[in-house]
Amino acid sequence: MSTQHQLRFGVFFQGVNSSTIWRSEASGSQTDFSSFRRLAQTAERGLFSAFFLGEGLRLREHLGRIHELDVAGRPDAQTMLAALAAVTSNIGLVATQNTTYNDPADLARRLASLDLISQGRAAWNVVTTHNAWTGENFRRGGYLEHSQRYTHAEEFVQTVRRIWAGGPVHHRGEHYTVDYTGTLPASTQQRPVLFQAGDSAEGRDFAARQTDVIFSAHVGLQDALDFRQDINQRSVNAGRSPYAVKIMPSAEFIIDQTPEAAAEKHRWVREQQIGPQQALAYLEQFWGTRLEDVDPYGPLPDFDPVVQRSSVTRGSGFQGAKTLELAASWRAEARAKGQNIIQFVRGRSHRPEHTFTGSYDQVAERLADYARQRAVDGFNISPWLIPTGIDDIVNHLVPRLQERGIYPQSYAGTLRENLGLTIDHDHELHAQGLLPVEQEAS
Ligand SMILES: Cc1cc2nc3c(=O)[nH]c(=O)nc-3n(C[C@H](O)[C@H](O)[C@H](O)COP(=O)(O)O)c2cc1C
Repeated sequence: MSTQHQLRFGVFFQGVNSSTIWRSEASGSQTDFSSFRRLAQTAERGLFSAFFLGEGLRLREHLGRIHELDVAGRPDAQTMLAALAAVTSNIGLVATQNTTYNDPADLARRLASLDLISQGRAAWNVVTTHNAWTGENFRRGGYLEHSQRYTHAEEFVQTVRRIWAGGPVHHRGEHYTVDYTGTLPASTQQRPVLFQAGDSAEGRDFAARQTDVIFSAHVGLQDALDFRQDINQRSVNAGRSPYAVKIMPSAEFIIDQTPEAAAEKHRWVREQQIGPQQALAYLEQFWGTRLEDVDPYGPLPDFDPVVQRSSVTRGSGFQGAKTLELAASWRAEARAKGQNIIQFVRGRSHRPEHTFTGSYDQVAERLADYARQRAVDGFNISPWLIPTGIDDIVNHLVPRLQERGIYPQSYAGTLRENLGLTIDHDHELHAQGLLPVEQEAS
């Protein structure tokens, strides 16, 4: 192989979530600008490609209460990223924005503005949103069915892309009628980079047709390789080359000088993330009933779950008929492992393959494997501590990756360049719906 495959990092300031430790003395505010600035500037010191914000327009609920697992707090992404553009110079600024409740012309203009003021550092992480309460915030109310969410998303993104390409847009579609004359010039990276997060077959095809980077949930090496193969095939089907779409899975790093120190840190992190209250709240999602009288230091409930008709988008974890079966298997698993509720939930709620735990050198070696096999193009890192959670990555892991030749030594330019992306003009026209994809005869 002529040149080494390079990994890029993004940092995901998660907002509402259940894995950020916020009770610890070491934690800062989840909402103060200073936290965002501290994290973004540290990431920039470590040559991270992207600072990434998710979107949650409503707190999650379960059994009529706000979800007790969640850390609350999430200022508007574009406002926050515009402020961060002024205190950073190179790092990409990625805003997760849904296609279900926005309007194409409005969102296109706001993202193009971010791209201009940041000199070619903006990106849009396209999501359709599977949180059913969000719809209740909006005039339209309601909620689109899964398959409709993606046909709607595709028309939305095509329209945004045409707006970004410049020139008057006259769009007549199933969901939108838009007549638009551009108001802004293109940025130095031509248009904002497009990310996608969503894992269904429709979501993956949509990503292969429309986006530059996938923020995936496939982190374990074999899982990442399988996902890579799947996306490569879908890219080819969409008239693109394999590897045209970059893949950056979400990952957590618990690292230290020695394997022993890292293992101890890992124990501490899990203890902080899942205490008695969070363990019960987690289990309630699956049991479909309040568990406040259950002892979190005891075994899993011996009574059966309440079978719920509501879906995962409404906070119910188990689906319909499988509820009783799954509860029985969980009880058996916890019993076999001698686990109480807290221990069981700690084991379940954090998939080990999502976390890179070990000494700096061990983890650098593991990442070198990912680079060698071209399994991913980088990782979108979720720090478990805000705002200091990536300090050890920047100070100790990044230099080790650079020594191995699998991490950049400097910024290349715009976000597109930093991610190693180029614009393929034919594909741009396909993605705007202006040029049909020719299927190769096999
Ligand atoms: C890694 C990852 C991160 C996501 N982040 C968000 C987010 O911040 N906000 C949001 O509304 N949806 C987010 N989503 C959910 C997507 O919006 C999508 O609606 C959901 O996964 C359903 O689509 P699917 O069936 O294709 O997976 C995320 C999904 C994945 C896989």
